[in-house]
Amino acid sequence: MVDTSDEWITERTGIKERRIADSSISTSDIALEASKKAIKDAGIKASEISMIIVGTITGDMPMPATACLLQKKLGIKDIPAFDINAACSGFLYGISIADGFIKSKSCKYILVVGAEMLSRFTDWKDRTTCVIFGDGAGAALLTGHNGKDGILSTHIHADGNFSDLIKIPAGGSQKPTSELTVRERMHFIKMKGNETFKIAVKTLGSLVEDTLKHNGITAQQLSLLIPHQANKRIISAVAERLGISEDKIMMNIEKYGNTSAASVPIALDEAVRSGRIKPKDYILLEAFGAGLTWASALIRW
Ligand code: ACO
Repeated sequence: MVDTSDEWITERTGIKERRIADSSISTSDIALEASKKAIKDAGIKASEISMIIVGTITGDMPMPATACLLQKKLGIKDIPAFDINAACSGFLYGISIADGFIKSKSCKYILVVGAEMLSRFTDWKDRTTCVIFGDGAGAALLTGHNGKDGILSTHIHADGNFSDLIKIPAGGSQKPTSELTVRERMHFIKMKGNETFKIAVKTLGSLVEDTLKHNGITAQQLSLLIPHQANKRIISAVAERLGISEDKIMMNIEKYGNTSAASVPIALDEAVRSGRIKPKDYILLEAFGAGLTWASALIRW
């Protein structure tokens, strides 16, 4: 479709495969599949959930929120449900909000989902973006307990001065959909990749350092770093800056590409299911995306 090569994609991003959803399904459908698994693993009934938060920039439609569509598909009602538009940081923004509601004892069970169908917003004629993004969903069920372990801290940030770096320019109030916006392919993701790359490496390095410092632990005490899977080189550069060895980094970008808000929960799920996380381990989750936004969470499992 475009002038590229497997060699370029592998070397520059680490991506070998991606998942592209069938046209008959939408973001809330894959959010539902992930949610059902999380609810089953948590051993609760959907009706016990007190809040639904969905991190997504590729919802089923501009409104209503995909979280409300998911709520309907789960067959539950009368609880708050809303989306978070924080791009790749959406799941961790959701975790941070859920953590606050749980710790204040306002909610017992909160479903946090990261779900994206980036393929629907990818310009398959733009080689700078069409080789990167994939579809996917991941979900987590959060609840409180009396012990000291669990989510130790969350950190969420944004800097709108960099809002031009990654965007879908049309389809909003600034540039409503018109023949012109469609013709000019303005409903697709535009990204200044290289500029974003440099800011990501710098920002994520500081973010991880600050998160560790906040909790009084060192990088060496971490059992696993679960980064947003945007680019293998970003992940490796951050790990190198922090002196974290490759075996302590969860990496699955080669299978899924960049799935934005879904990448952290998918990686977390794979880490849990493959036995890479044990009780009492320190796990650090981090992400960076359009906005610009960035976020982290330190968990004692
Ligand atoms: N195939 C072949 N060549 C390509 C391709 C491609 N698919 N894409 C770009 N090139 C070329 C460019 O034209 C350029 O050529 P030139 O040197 O002749 O001008 C060369 O490759 C290098 O281009 P760069 O843009 O400098 O490539 P870079 O090494 O920066 O890699 C990438 C590009 C993979 C996009 C990288 O910058 C990146 O991963 N950026 C960060 C993305 C990110 O973290 N986004 C945040 C989350 S996404 C979200 O929020 C939705």
